Amino acid sequence: MNLEIEGKAAIITGASAGIGFAVAEELLANGARVLIVARDKGRLADAAPKLASKVDSRSNDVVALAADVSGPEAAGMIVDHAIKAFGGIDILVNNAGRAHAGGLMASAEEDWQEMTAVKLTSMRRLCKAAIPHMQKAKWGRIVNMSSIGGIYPNPKLFVSHVLSGAINNLTKSLALEVAKDGILVNAIGIGAVATDNWANNMVPAVRRSRPEFAKLSDDDIIARISAECTPVGRAGSAREIAAIAAFLSSGRNGFVTGDTIEASGGADRFM
Ligand SMILES: NC(=O)c1ccc[n+]([C@@H]2O[C@H](COP(=O)([O-])OP(=O)(O)OC[C@H]3O[C@@H](n4cnc5c(N)ncnc54)[C@H](OP(=O)(O)O)[C@@H]3O)[C@@H](O)[C@H]2O)c1
Repeated sequence: MNLEIEGKAAIITGASAGIGFAVAEELLANGARVLIVARDKGRLADAAPKLASKVDSRSNDVVALAADVSGPEAAGMIVDHAIKAFGGIDILVNNAGRAHAGGLMASAEEDWQEMTAVKLTSMRRLCKAAIPHMQKAKWGRIVNMSSIGGIYPNPKLFVSHVLSGAINNLTKSLALEVAKDGILVNAIGIGAVATDNWANNMVPAVRRSRPEFAKLSDDDIIARISAECTPVGRAGSAREIAAIAAFLSSGRNGFVTGDTIEASGGADRFM
């Protein structure tokens, strides 16, 4: 299927690794130009040439910007950078973030503040900064990375899932506001996907609650938990999520908006 995004300008946050990197790869392979954003300059410096090497005659179509999306000035800076590099913004993929394992009583005030800033506030600010450029072009696509917990809350991931619910609500409300401008806004309710995020933020909590896993490697724990919780019997891959994000970001999507697509292998929990 031709996604009809040749030459489109995309911002993808959290694109130096995991799902964001796979989304950048997919959009680039379909002819889009990508601005990839993440905090760690070293990882970005590795990711950008890796992406560019896949489209060698179009290496200028990959631009990297080191930024923390949770900063108050970040959205303006990211959008300005995309406009300078590409002259417009057609696609915004709000992907930066991580999981926070634990219930309300185990979460600290700082956890809430940090997670809200990274996942929700940055999303609101980036949408607000990018939409005027999409309105000018009368075309735009926004994809917000949410989690299956926004639909089926799990108290083992209280903060993440409250924010996922808010992301789904933001997505629906914004979709209704900008539908008349040719802008489609959707979310993906992600289930267990094997990335660094899982290893760094979920596996330690699983190890605490499941002492019988003490001798297993992180990869084995992810495989065991995913098999237990996911009807398809395994964790998803970043590439599987990227395929959905690419369709939602594309010209071939003309009629899906305000939706949260469940991409969880049939699961309603991942822990
Ligand atoms: N994997 C899953 O099972 C799963 C499930 C549900 C939802 N999700 C959501 O999907 C998204 C992608 O997750 P992933 O699993 O691909 O994570 P990942 O492999 O850990 O990658 C996260 C990416 O986001 C960047 N990032 C993190 N915080 C950032 C910040 N404040 N500003 C800018 N960039 C930031 C990271 O780079 P730096 O650290 O260098 O900034 C990295 O590029 C996240 O929002 C996550 O909550 C994932």
